[in-house]
Amino acid sequence: VSAATTEKPWRRYTGGEAKGFVDELRLAAMKLHTRQQAQEGEMEAKAPEEQRVEEWEPTLDGYLKFLVDIKVVYDTLEQIIEKPSFPSYGEFRNTGLERSEKLAKDLKWFEEKGYGIPEASSPGVAYAKYLEQLSEKDPQAFICHFYNIYFANTAGGSIIAKKVAEKILDSRELEFYKWDGELSQLLQNVRDKLNKVAENWSREDKNRCLGETEISFKFYREIVRLMLS
Ligand code: HEM
Repeated sequence: VSAATTEKPWRRYTGGEAKGFVDELRLAAMKLHTRQQAQEGEMEAKAPEEQRVEEWEPTLDGYLKFLVDIKVVYDTLEQIIEKPSFPSYGEFRNTGLERSEKLAKDLKWFEEKGYGIPEASSPGVAYAKYLEQLSEKDPQAFICHFYNIYFANTAGGSIIAKKVAEKILDSRELEFYKWDGELSQLLQNVRDKLNKVAENWSREDKNRCLGETEISFKFYREIVRLMLS
């Protein structure tokens, strides 16, 4: 059983800190999970990636497609943060959660083993394009994606990683699921920064940010679904 399934959600979340806007972001995300994905989920599972991860039948070809497409998303996100259109993005430079280089290492490993690395496909390319456009016009909405993309990978991602490693990777742990430093501390630092940035937002700004959660889920799920293709 992975840490994400045994830890109490509130413990994982609050880390003993005062509560802030991240609470609201987390709640918005948890509601959109299916009951099969997470204890706090409220949706009914319909699509394959919404079922219990234990029941998934991932394929190696599909998983490589997933890695390529999710890398396009992280590459874009990390470029946006590196050359920010809005000063608030600068807070999120070098958080230690960055995934681009880790994914590059994983893909290089597969390549050296003789696997064919696919071209990026529409789910990843579409999400990256959306993020680029949004980041230039609506910082509050963009920050919602930043939160979901990084936090989804540490929560559900760890459950998925284990399942995929057992089923198709001979238990090899990918770099994508390794962090330099204590992950819980890195996450807490980012939560504190998110709370700080949101302190200057109006209620309307906050609601627009929360409202983006559904869009983030829609895009991200399309990419996760590649694993099962
Ligand atoms: C949290 C599973 C997809 C965003 C969680 C948690 C679980 C989980 C079990 C609770 C972790 C805890 O105890 O706090 C899954 C599974 C998915 C999935 C199995 C299968 C596809 C997604 C998607 C998104 C997302 C598509 C958004 C793009 C989040 C966020 C949290 C979370 C933001 C809160 C993390 C935190 O507070 O640290 N997920 N999830 N998840 N998930 Fe997912």
